[in-house]
Amino acid sequence: MKVAIASDHGGIRIREEIKKLMDEMGIEYIDLGCECETSVDYPDYAIPVAEKVAKGEVDRGILICGTGIGMSIAANKVKGVRCALVHDVFSARATREHNDSNVLAMGERVIGPGLAREIAKVWLTTEYEGGRHENRLKKIAEYENKQ
Ligand code: RB5
Repeated sequence: MKVAIASDHGGIRIREEIKKLMDEMGIEYIDLGCECETSVDYPDYAIPVAEKVAKGEVDRGILICGTGIGMSIAANKVKGVRCALVHDVFSARATREHNDSNVLAMGERVIGPGLAREIAKVWLTTEYEGGRHENRLKKIAEYENKQ
């Protein structure tokens, strides 16, 4: 699996924690910034990560900002991206099993690095269940294709 990860200035510490986790798990990743702690705009990081996922250049994306909300809104504008904003382990598992989410968003002003690490670990290792969920994802894709 290959992952693209990025954060704005509000998510740098969790981004570093998740990179450490992926090193430990032997997961290949590309880090798309941001490079500094001064204020940047989250769409400039969310959209490149989401596009890499949509184009199949990476398998998954991980985005962190202050709340995770801006990142998830921006990422979900990219066709084919199913970005889930997650702050608990139950939802991390459920969104992989049910929604086949391909991008994970988290907020560093909402949760700490320890919980973020657990969430990312579960999200990276849980398989999509398919079955009854398939038709629901198909309806989302059909809507996207009409835009
Ligand atoms: C930046 O101040 C903050 O707005 C951003 O990190 C994020 O929380 C947006 O949703």
